Amino acid sequence: MRTKFIQKFQQKYGPWALVTGASSGIGTEFAKQLAATGLNLVLVARRKDRLEKLKQNLEQNYNVKVRIAPVDLTDPDFISRIRKVTDDIDVGLLVSNAGMMYIGHYLDNSLENEMKMIDLNIKAPSILTHHFGKKMTERGKGGIIYTASMLGFMGTPYATAYAATKAYEVAKAEGLAYELKSKGVDVLALNPGLTETEMTANYDFSAMPMKLMKPEKVARTALHCLGRRTLATPGKMNNMMNFFAKHLMSRQMNTKMFGGFMKKTF
Ligand SMILES: NC(=O)c1ccc[n+]([C@@H]2O[C@H](COP(=O)([O-])OP(=O)(O)OC[C@H]3O[C@@H](n4cnc5c(N)ncnc54)[C@H](OP(=O)(O)O)[C@@H]3O)[C@@H](O)[C@H]2O)c1
Repeated sequence: MRTKFIQKFQQKYGPWALVTGASSGIGTEFAKQLAATGLNLVLVARRKDRLEKLKQNLEQNYNVKVRIAPVDLTDPDFISRIRKVTDDIDVGLLVSNAGMMYIGHYLDNSLENEMKMIDLNIKAPSILTHHFGKKMTERGKGGIIYTASMLGFMGTPYATAYAATKAYEVAKAEGLAYELKSKGVDVLALNPGLTETEMTANYDFSAMPMKLMKPEKVARTALHCLGRRTLATPGKMNNMMNFFAKHLMSRQMNTKMFGGFMKKTF
């Protein structure tokens, strides 16, 4: 069963996958699990030392090639640095996972920081999608995963701008999945709930109804759902919350409830 899955996965999404935000959290897990399926990897993030360590680890433990691209995805010309590392290879899977979050009063965040978040969470995935998505449609196969968030399903006070960037990713994935299906390219928005990573380390989420999940399970859910669904939320509790939010509550009620939770986190 696993061998069949791996063969199909390699055939559809190989030979190379590019993972952004590979230096920690969910991105590192994506890289490990993709290496385990035999895909060669391009690892993208700013911290070069982390990428080098991960490259060494993956090359030692799996029979794959790994390249690193230490790049700040908010730099206006970041794509030219990524192209230097990828122009001679076929990237069949784009995992657009790097992201940043701001929790607190919207107006207390600097405009500069909000613009940076828009650059990283919205602009960079769009640039990567245009570049690699076109090549995938020319080859007639491939996959794109966006790490969005459950917060992308609702207006979320105290994570107002962050949730809005994730709503953009959700809507984009849904539209693009439809457009690219006939071209052989699968698109998925992964919508994690709270996950135990550097991003959540400095906040107190004890008032939240759901527990923090491990990044292993979050990445595994995405790889399992790619090609089968357009939206994927890891975890039973998170899916139950999605169900209540969608079918039993109004958008206004969701926002009010999450506003209450989020206020206690910072
Ligand atoms: N943790 C959660 O509860 C949760 C829930 C829902 C969705 N998510 C989403 O999951 C994704 C991964 O986050 P995570 O939880 O794994 O957090 P994380 O451990 O903080 O990882 C964030 C990754 O993004 C990279 N990154 C940040 N700024 C960058 C920049 N300017 N240029 C290039 N890379 C940059 C970081 O690497 P460098 O610092 O080395 O650049 C790091 O590898 C994000 O999109 C996040 O919004 C997380």
